[in-house]
Parts: sequence; C-alpha cells; structure tokens
Amino acid sequence: MKIFKQYLDNASIETPKVGKLKNHTTTPMPPITTIAVAGASGALGTPLVHALLAANFQVTALTRLDSQSTHPPGVKVARVDYTSHSSLSAALTGHDALVVTLTPSASGDQDPIMRAAIAAGVYRIIPSEFGGDMLHPRVRTLPVFKGKRDTQTLVRRLCAESRGTTTFTLVFNNLFLDWGIELGLAIDLAGKKMEFVDGGERYFTAAPLEFIARGVVAILQRPEETADRAIRLSGVRMTQKQLLRIAKKVVGEEGWTVTHIESEELKRRGYEGYRRSTSFGGSWVFDLVKFTLHADGYAGDFAGKEDNELLGLEELDEEEVEEMMRRGVSFNTSYYGL
Ligand SMILES: NC(=O)c1ccc[n+]([C@@H]2O[C@H](COP(=O)([O-])OP(=O)(O)OC[C@H]3O[C@@H](n4cnc5c(N)ncnc54)[C@H](OP(=O)(O)O)[C@@H]3O)[C@@H](O)[C@H]2O)c1
Repeated sequence: MKIFKQYLDNASIETPKVGKLKNHTTTPMPPITTIAVAGASGALGTPLVHALLAANFQVTALTRLDSQSTHPPGVKVARVDYTSHSSLSAALTGHDALVVTLTPSASGDQDPIMRAAIAAGVYRIIPSEFGGDMLHPRVRTLPVFKGKRDTQTLVRRLCAESRGTTTFTLVFNNLFLDWGIELGLAIDLAGKKMEFVDGGERYFTAAPLEFIARGVVAILQRPEETADRAIRLSGVRMTQKQLLRIAKKVVGEEGWTVTHIESEELKRRGYEGYRRSTSFGGSWVFDLVKFTLHADGYAGDFAGKEDNELLGLEELDEEEVEEMMRRGVSFNTSYYGL
C-alpha cells in the first residue's frame, strides 16, 4: 500500500531564469567508475560510500588533514587541505566524479574544491546540496542556503565554460527523514512531541539517507540522463499528521504533546535567530529548513517533479517508514548499522 503516492498539483514551483540546464556535449558520455567523496565519513557520506562500494565503484575518501574519521576497507583515503588548489587537484586527478557531502557549515567553502575538480578534468561534480529545491526562487533567497546558492552558481558557470568536459548534477531531497527523526527534529519520538506547522496537513517530501545514497549511485550509473540538471528525490510523501499517526504505532498512542505553529512565525523565529547568530548552526537553521519544508509555496512537496522513475527508485511504503522509525527509537548513531 503506497499511501504517499497521492500527488498534488504543484504548479506554484517554478525554475528561476538562471540559465539553461543543458548538456553541452555531443559525444556519448563515458561510464563513470572512479568516485572521490569529500566528507565520506559523515551522516550522508557513510551510507553513500557503502552504496558506491556495493555498486562496484572505486572510491576515494577525501578527508581533512587532521581528521580522525575512519573509512571502510576498499576505500582509498586522500588527506587534503580544503583551502589549497594544488592539494585538491592532486587528490582529484584520475577521478571521473566528485561527490561533496561536507558538513553543512562548510557548504559555502566549496569554491576551491569545485575549481580543483574542473582543473583535474573530473567529469561529473555533485556539489554539497542534498536539501531543499535550490532552483526554487523563494528557497534560494533564504540566508540558510546562501553557501549552497553561491556554490551552485559557480559550478554551473564553470561547467558551462568547460563545454562538457565537466558536468554537474544538483541533488535535492528535502529533509533527511531518518536523520531528522533520530535527532528529534521531524518528530520527537523519545519525548513524544510533535509541532504541526499550519495544522500539519500539508504534504511534504523527504528521504532517508540510504535512499539518497542509492539515488546518487543511480545518477552516476546514468551519466547521460543526469548531466547538467537537477535531480529531485522523493523517498516519502506525507503530511505531518500522517507521520504522527505512524509514530503512534511505534511508540504508543498515549502521552503525546502536540503543539502548533504558523509557518510565518517559524520564518520570523528563524530570521530572528539568524540575525543574532554569528555562525552557521543552531536552531535558526532548522527553523528555516522546517519552514521551507512545510510552508505553502516553498517546494516542500516535490510531487510531479521527482525523478524517482528515471533512477529506478520507489518511495517507501507505510511499513517501511514504520520500520525506519523503529530504528530511530533505538537512537542508533551508526546509520543503518553500517
Ligand atoms: N536535507 C537535510 O535534512 C540535511 C541534513 C543534514 C545535512 N544535509 C546536507 O547534506 C550534506 C552532508 O551533510 P552531513 O550532515 O552528512 O555532513 P556531516 O556528517 O556533518 O559532515 C560530513 C563530513 O564533513 C567533514 N567535515 C566536518 N567538519 C568540517 C569542516 N569544518 N570543514 C570541512 N569538512 C568538514 C568530516 O569529514 P572528515 O572528518 O573525513 O574530513 C565529516 O565527516 C550537506 O550538504 C548538508 O547541508 C542535509
């Protein structure tokens, strides 16, 4: 039973006039086999590396000079200085693709790695996006996405200038659903708390980390169809009320505290935190992310725009969401036990 397949008309989502997303090459694209992953040890990087290895890609993990992170057997590790062009281009030479899954606060620091990838002749770049629809004109203007917006503009320009030597894919998946549940952000299972935005009946799309990882693998396996364009992944489509109903099956009906907030208040709270903040991070970031997910007219719902079919992906059904929540309840910090 696929309860999340009732797509709404999403005519309000428009692509801004920021240049054509078009492939410049005329020759067939070569298969992609060697992948560099920057941020391979992170929340998304970890399941991504496992999915790449399972699909027989050769994987190099780029890691900071002083990082303590560890990587699975079979992964080549390259320590890099993320501010140094020569360090990055040396590490990237010989790779067909670069996937960046660096920590959110570093999303505005991708300029050197993007330029190095172009210089090293990397064929496909997937920058650190993995959130809201950054082609949506209203989403793009929010301060929380400034770093990603600037990176995206740079990548598109550099790839256009390379005339097909380097191509890009932008991956949008909205909320990391399991991550959001484990951290109590989408719903607080441990404390049995839920905050409905505008009544909790608006549809949104989201995706678990493992689903996004499979999406990236599928993109890399389809270089031609995924060149110089955005890909929208929908792992689930549901309302907050549906999420709460499933949560009650997992942790019980009793003892819930349900609160309400208007999306405009969420936005006001987020901007207030942003103005007070001296750095990226903290509750203002999640307030604005939550706002884009649940407010009307901010592309929180990818219905009719998702690229699952192209990639051979199917949304989770209710039982799978329930199972994912059971893992969330156990607060397993190693994602999917990998
Ligand atoms: N849609 C959503 O709900 C959602 C949620 C979270 C994140 N995201 C997005 O997903 C992408 C990956 O995020 P993530 O949560 O997976 O990242 P993460 O786990 O916080 O960090 C990934 C890796 O980045 C490296 N790193 C940490 N701090 C760094 C710094 N200051 N400078 C450079 N590298 C640093 C570390 O690797 P090494 O130690 O190996 O160097 C770390 O393992 C980002 O674009 C983020 O914005 C989306």
